[in-house]
Amino acid sequence: MKITFTLNDETLTMDVKEDIRLLDFLRDELGLTGTKEGCGEGECGACTVIIDGKAVNSCLVLLPEIDGS
Ligand code: FES
Repeated sequence: MKITFTLNDETLTMDVKEDIRLLDFLRDELGLTGTKEGCGEGECGACTVIIDGKAVNSCLVLLPEIDGS
C-alpha cells in the first residue's frame, strides 16, 4: 500500500508492506538506527518516536497507522 508521512521535516510517499512495524521500517528500510529495539512489547520505551506530538512506542505501530502523520 502507498502511504504519505512526514519524517524529520521531509514529506515522503512510499509503497510499503502493511504488516511491517514502524520500528523495523525506520531501522531496516530507512537506516535510522537511532531508534532502538529493546523489549519489542511496548514496555521499555527504547523505540520511542514522536508522532503528531505524542511519544509512541514504534514497536507497537504498523506502517498503515502513520499514513498522514
Ligand atoms: S522496544 Fe520496548 S517499548 Fe518498543
